[in-house]
Parts: sequence; structure tokens; C-alpha cells
Amino acid sequence: MAIAERPIILVVDDEESVRRSFDVIFRDDYEVLTVPDGEMALAKVQDLMPNLMFLDVRMPGMGGLEVLAEVRRIDEDLEVVVVTAVSDLATAIEAMKLGAFNYIIKPFDVNAIQQIASRALLKHRINLENRRFLESLTQENVRLRTQGKRLKRRLQATSHELHEMREGFAHASKLAALGETAATIAHEIRNPLTVISAYIQLTRQHLPSNTKVLGHLDRVEREIQRLNRVAQHLMSYSSRSNPAWTKVPVNALVEDTLWLIRPRAHAQHVEVMTDYDASSPTVQGDQDQLTQVLLNLLVNACQAMPDGGCIQITTGVRGEGEGEGEGGAAQVTIQIADTGCGIPEEHLPNIFQPFFTTKGKDGTGLGLAISSRIARDHQGTIDVQSEVGRGSVFLIALPSAAQDSTAPPS
Ligand SMILES: Nc1ncnc2c1ncn2[C@@H]1O[C@H](COP(=O)(O)OP(=O)(O)OP(=O)(O)O)[C@@H](O)[C@H]1O
Ligand SMILES: [Mg+2]
Repeated sequence: MAIAERPIILVVDDEESVRRSFDVIFRDDYEVLTVPDGEMALAKVQDLMPNLMFLDVRMPGMGGLEVLAEVRRIDEDLEVVVVTAVSDLATAIEAMKLGAFNYIIKPFDVNAIQQIASRALLKHRINLENRRFLESLTQENVRLRTQGKRLKRRLQATSHELHEMREGFAHASKLAALGETAATIAHEIRNPLTVISAYIQLTRQHLPSNTKVLGHLDRVEREIQRLNRVAQHLMSYSSRSNPAWTKVPVNALVEDTLWLIRPRAHAQHVEVMTDYDASSPTVQGDQDQLTQVLLNLLVNACQAMPDGGCIQITTGVRGEGEGEGEGGAAQVTIQIADTGCGIPEEHLPNIFQPFFTTKGKDGTGLGLAISSRIARDHQGTIDVQSEVGRGSVFLIALPSAAQDSTAPPS
């Protein structure tokens, strides 16, 4: 077998400094191509078939997710690592669902991206080898077909088994990569922050109380706290950390989340209609987590309507003034109804279980499990009604924030 040429890494980022950094990091070991926008990236993918692409999600013109979807049409084997800001994690999750290998958060750690690059290139190589292997198996299958029934049956069983193993492996490694990356980055950031913070406090003790250096130190400490929050935010994607509890206006929450789903719905000829409760209901909660719940349900609805359809989102308030005792028990509801394929009755008890999916390698089966966990953390519920062939209705119910405190439930 011929020795492979140097792997090609394509870097797509509108910032010149970022492109230059990638070039410096990788040029000794790989062929590095850099381009400033999505259109040029697609042309390079078409012409040069790179092995790995680092893709900025936020670019003027064609956005990263759009580029990613187009890339999948041109070369389904190309591994894509999405480069994102911490404020854009929802987009990173979306990118993972579109088949990205992993994501990195700006500003990034050179060691970490070198490791991600070598893992992605290894996976790319294994995928190509697997594909060649499966292709040759299929050819072999055809040849053996002529050699009698028994051999044929055995080969089919083997190739099926291989296929399942390969899918299982890809699935598991993607999940592990997502959790592991988030936790590692957060951990790496928090340790040095603790040390810096301790030294600042020590320095304070040796300074006269009237020096203006104290003001500078205040500023440094505020920035350290901010970094700490960023790290915490990251960790919440791999474990439960302290949520940022605020009063969340539900109509605005839905409207914001729709920005994330509309391009996908539009491309699939899915019409999205909204009916907002006029009283502008609010709930207490973590805005990012609640966005994640809505996003999961809306993505599922779109996936249930590959040939188009309709999503109706309705917000409302129930239980108010129905005499349920002190403090009332008003609940804010968000109903998401689709006209998709529906859910067979025998699946209904399983859909909230982790890893239950009917989407093969396209689903992790975590969307509803995470969503119901988040709803529970908010003392709420998610219910479903569905009929095969007619569609599904998911109903999120959360305690109304009308006169509550701003503390999360203990
Ligand atoms: N709106 C819906 N219409 C039809 N089936 C649905 C709908 N929502 C969920 N399901 C079913 O429930 C299963 C579990 O959904 P869940 O969101 O947890 O995982 P997934 O969508 O398969 O994968 P992931 O969300 O991790 O990409 C889906 O595979 C699908 O069979
Ligand atoms: Mg899902």
C-alpha cells in the first residue's frame, strides 16, 4: 500500500490572526490551508478533499453551521472541528449534531488542539479504511453469492456485525469527546485562577490602604470572577454545576430559540407558528438550560418532518386562582406541537431514557433525557402526547415566577 501524503488541514476563520496561529501550530506536521470565509472553504473541500477542517462558527456571510451542512453534502468523511466562543455553546451543540467531530473554545490551548487534531485525523483514517474494508466485503459478498447459500449467509452476518460495531464506536467516541473536552477545559482554567486569586489576596495584605494599586487589584479580581463563571458554564455541559438563576420571560425565550432553529426549519419546508400568552409569563430558571430544552424539542420536531410540515408553539399560564392553597400553583406552559411522524405507543415509555433513539447514528438519544432532567431541576415537567402519522405534542410546565424569590430550588 502506498505511503499516505501529509494530511491536509483546512482552517476557516475570518480573523487573520487566528488563521496565522493555526498555520504556525500545524505547518511542521501537516499541509495547512487557510481561508477567510465559507464559500472559499467549500471550494477547497471540493478541489482538495482535506482530511480535517477547523471551522469558525461565527463568520460574516455564510455561517459555520451552514458551511458544515454543505460540507456534509460534498464529503461525508471530512472531520470538522468547530471553533467557537463560550457564549456560543448552543451552536457548538448544534454542530456536534450535524456531525462535527468536536469543538474548541476560543481562546484555545495549543496542546489541546494538537491532541484534538491528531485524534480527528486518526478517526478520519480509520473511517476511510473502514469504508474501503466494507466496500471490499460487499464485493466479496457478491462473489461468494455464486458459491452457494451457506457461505453467503455467514458473510452477511459478519458484515452486519462489523457495521454495528463501527457505528457503536463512532457514537460512543463522539459522546465521550464532548463531555471530556468541556470538563478538561473548565478544569484547566479554574486551577490557575484559584492560585492567581490567592496571590492577589496575599499581595493586598502588604499594601498600604491608600495606594491606587488596590483599585487595579479589584479590577483583576473582577476579571478572575468572570473567568470562573465561564468555566462553570462550560462544566454545566458535562455535569450539573450551579445554574445562573434569573427571572426568564418565556415568550422572549421562545422567540430567541426560534432564531437558532428557523434556518433548519426553513430548509426543511417546516412552517413555524407561535401563539404567545398576552400576560408575558415568567419563570425562575437558567436561561441557557431552558434554551437547550426548547432547542432539543424543536430539533426533534424538525427531524420528525423530513418532508416538511408545521410546528405550532403556544405559551400559556394554568392553575392560576384555582384555589390550590397558599401561594397558588400557577404554572407557565410551553406547548410544542408538530405534524410529524408521531411516536409509536410502545416507544413512549422509553423516549426520556438516556440513549433511547430511533435515529441510528444520527441521534445520541440524550436530547429528551437532558431536557427532562433540566425541567425537573426547575421543578417542572415535560409531557407528551403522540399519534403515529399525525404528530406529537410536547408540553413543558414550569412554576410561574410571579412572586417567587430568585434562588434555585435546593
Ligand atoms: N417530535 C417527535 N416526533 C417523533 N418522534 C420523536 C419526537 N421527539 C422525540 N422522538 C422520539 O424520541 C427519541 C428520543 O429523542 P431524543 O431527543 O432523546 O434523542 P434523539 O433525537 O434520537 O437524539 P439526540 O437528540 O441526542 O440527537 C427519538 O429518537 C424519536 O424516536
Ligand atoms: Mg433529539
